[in-house]
Amino acid sequence: MMSDTAGPIAIFDSGVGGLTVAAAIARALPQEGFVYLGDTARLPYGTKSPETVTRYAVQATRALMRFQPKMIVVACNTASAVALPVLAAAYAPLPVVGVVEPGARAAVAASRQGRIAVIATEGTVRGGAYVRAIHALNAQVHVVQRACPLFVALAEEGWTHGAVPELAARKYLSDIFEVETPPDTLVLGCTHFPVLVDAIRKAVGPAVALVDSAETVAREIASIVRASGSGAGPAVHRFLSTDAPERFARVGSQFFGAAIDVAQVELVDLSA
Ligand code: DGL
Repeated sequence: MMSDTAGPIAIFDSGVGGLTVAAAIARALPQEGFVYLGDTARLPYGTKSPETVTRYAVQATRALMRFQPKMIVVACNTASAVALPVLAAAYAPLPVVGVVEPGARAAVAASRQGRIAVIATEGTVRGGAYVRAIHALNAQVHVVQRACPLFVALAEEGWTHGAVPELAARKYLSDIFEVETPPDTLVLGCTHFPVLVDAIRKAVGPAVALVDSAETVAREIASIVRASGSGAGPAVHRFLSTDAPERFARVGSQFFGAAIDVAQVELVDLSA
């Protein structure tokens, strides 16, 4: 059941990566407002323990509740992989939507030969959430995972094109893809990775289907919102950052695909 208020869609990530999801939601539901929180002070989540990531996710959600949202979107694979059940139980009946299951569904639908590779943070890979979600859909699929933590730093640094990300992508991916029967599908299992898609594409070649869960998640959210018949609030986009609003606006604009004005970014303290 969804809250029948005309509140915004609340979205959070460890940093600016989830803005790729926010952008897809804005395209799918242009009449809806959203509030996006990037926990930039504590990024990366991907190298931290499940307990710490869960605590951060609960604090981020609590901070978003003051906007009386109609739903919570966990636009971070790492937090989706470990904290979704805790958030769903704590905030029921508010819908809490993560990115792992929609990503797994999109990957299984895209894969023709049943060989899927997942690239993600160390935390997401260690927890195996994608492997479980893919096997729940089709136990025959062969899944290989690779943690690519440097991609998060490159994306946050804005080094998304050229020699540096291309070299990193080759280093992370060549042994998986330069084999006789390589995966036919690659899941970008971290919301920071879509901005590196050109470098990743070069490393894996033209034949591999790349799955970015942002579009799939946005479609799922659109169908939940439409089915609920809840009213749309003002189509205002608000941004919250736990550190350096200027950097959030500058780097975040690349992920969001549109300029974010620093005046739109509110600095928040989640530990308060
Ligand atoms: N954007 C986060 C994710 O999707 C990862 C970045 C981080 O390590 O904080 O997993």
